[in-house]
Amino acid sequence: MTSREAERAGHLKRLGPEVLRLLVRYLESARQGDGPVVRLPLLAELEAELGLSRGAAPAPLDDSGFLAFLARYLDRTVRMQHPGYLAHQVAVPHDASALADLVNGVTNNGMAIYEMGPGAVAVELAVLDWMLALVGWPRLRRPEDGHQEGPFSGGVLTHGGSLANLTALLAARAAVAPAAWNRGNDGGGLCVLASPEAHYSISRAVGIMGLGTDALVPVAADRRQVIRPDGLPAAAERARRSGRGIMALVASACSTGPGLYDPLEEIGDWCREEGIWFHVDAAHGAGALLSPRLRDRLRGLTQADSMIWDAHKMLRTSALCAAVLVRDGARLDGAFRQQASYIFHEGENPGMDLITRTVECTKAPLGLKVLFTLLLTGEDGLRRYVERQYEMTRRFHDIINSRPGFSCPFPPEANILCFRAPGDDAAQLRIRARLLEAGRFHLSSTEIRGRRYLRMTVMGPETGEEVLGDLLTAVEKIGAENGASPP
Ligand SMILES: Cc1ncc(COP(=O)(O)O)c(C=O)c1O
Repeated sequence: MTSREAERAGHLKRLGPEVLRLLVRYLESARQGDGPVVRLPLLAELEAELGLSRGAAPAPLDDSGFLAFLARYLDRTVRMQHPGYLAHQVAVPHDASALADLVNGVTNNGMAIYEMGPGAVAVELAVLDWMLALVGWPRLRRPEDGHQEGPFSGGVLTHGGSLANLTALLAARAAVAPAAWNRGNDGGGLCVLASPEAHYSISRAVGIMGLGTDALVPVAADRRQVIRPDGLPAAAERARRSGRGIMALVASACSTGPGLYDPLEEIGDWCREEGIWFHVDAAHGAGALLSPRLRDRLRGLTQADSMIWDAHKMLRTSALCAAVLVRDGARLDGAFRQQASYIFHEGENPGMDLITRTVECTKAPLGLKVLFTLLLTGEDGLRRYVERQYEMTRRFHDIINSRPGFSCPFPPEANILCFRAPGDDAAQLRIRARLLEAGRFHLSSTEIRGRRYLRMTVMGPETGEEVLGDLLTAVEKIGAENGASPP
């Protein structure tokens, strides 16, 4: 077959079943814990193993060459489905969201405007309305609602929580300093109050917005790095004394490092009294809203002005898919005051365009990944997943705390758990490095109040106590090899 004929035969039809076979084998072996969860060769070695050159385009491959490449590539991935995967807050994706990725890859509807993806727009709105209902906010406005007063919330899906935080803070700035979009921050002197544990994307957003990262004013936190509501007036006073107006207060639900929830109700009360825009970064922890048992952790969230929620963390959605939700929809529409007349032709539009709400111009149909997951596992499947992971993490905490020489700094509130193995700070780092080298477990580490901790995020739907037992044994073995005194 000539290459033209092969093209006509269709790569998807021809190679799809083979690719799927390889992927299913990959998934099954990862789930059984075969092979390493992670392998980190030197980049140059890896490039050579994959046959990648620096600069030149790779030579085209025939089908078997292509499948051989895919097999080599899969061999060099981090196996998210491996029971030893305990590292970062990236979802172990549900198969449904992988199927949506395939559909999106084929259909490729750049759906920031309705005419480029009507189905995808409808799906995104449905997903956002589902999230809004879980938060307790009104649904989104539709064209048939016209200019009716509302209330309507605002929402959009973005490529990740970082972009979502930026979008929400732009909405806050538009509310507080509407002229800033055209005139810049001239003399604006705005600042953002945030917890010391706020994700770095908040400080990045502040930098990107041209406020200068010095405009991030830390608020008082307790020994767990959770915001102390009684410290808020002093932070506001400090901000005002420095001549800055307060653009927003950012709370975490939950924080990235320790995984703890800020007390949203008290913070929200204070923000309301002070007339301060309240933004909740619930990228990781909003999944608790699905559970009647856990949703109390987010009590007070309804008072927020804006929030973000990463589906690619606890909603089993493949990366990336994050929601920006804004209680008053008009505020989100105010975030980007840029006109592009060739795109904004409202009157003739049978649907609605999302481009006014997002940094992105060509926008991927991210909602399908969440919708497929809901269609195939149901809201109840996701609820059970979140509850299981939170419960398992609490059990891990008890097991670790009762193991001689090991300790956790505080009980977990989500599926993130920090702990210390016997030894000093350097020993914790050494243990992690050795674990990664051996490749059976993948965990991260974090610093809390100047002390180094090992950190795990229990993402795997099948990760259980047996895995933890093996991990602790492996940690003890490394400790012994490094001469750590037995507890
Ligand atoms: C609390 C929090 N906010 C924001 C982010 C950034 O999200 P993303 O990685 O999707 O950009 C993270 C990432 O871990 C996070 O934990």
